[in-house]
Amino acid sequence: MKKLVIYFSHTGENYMSDGIRNIDKGNTEIVAEKIAAKTGADLFKVETVKDYPYDYYECCAEAKKELQSQARPELRV
Ligand SMILES: Cc1cc2nc3c(=O)[nH]c(=O)nc-3n(C[C@H](O)[C@H](O)[C@H](O)COP(=O)(O)O)c2cc1C
Repeated sequence: MKKLVIYFSHTGENYMSDGIRNIDKGNTEIVAEKIAAKTGADLFKVETVKDYPYDYYECCAEAKKELQSQARPELRV
């Protein structure tokens, strides 16, 4: 049976134990890769048409707006 790990993960500025800093790979992507490697699954990264702000606080504000409006951002195909 074919297996597929589908994930959505945020890069750019993120909140970490040492403060807000840039990351090239999010925790979800790291875990998705580990699951795929262990299970032999393919990987599929969900990406939105619109890019989210790099700035941590701007990105949080955008995410809050989307939550409140129950937004369903268009996905890149
Ligand atoms: C308040 C707060 C503190 C966080 N602290 C850490 C941390 O210390 N280490 C870490 O790897 N991720 C931490 N995270 C999570 C990352 O910001 C985030 O999971 C990851 O970098 C990217 O997101 P993803 O889950 O979309 O892949 C924290 C998140 C929040 C909201």
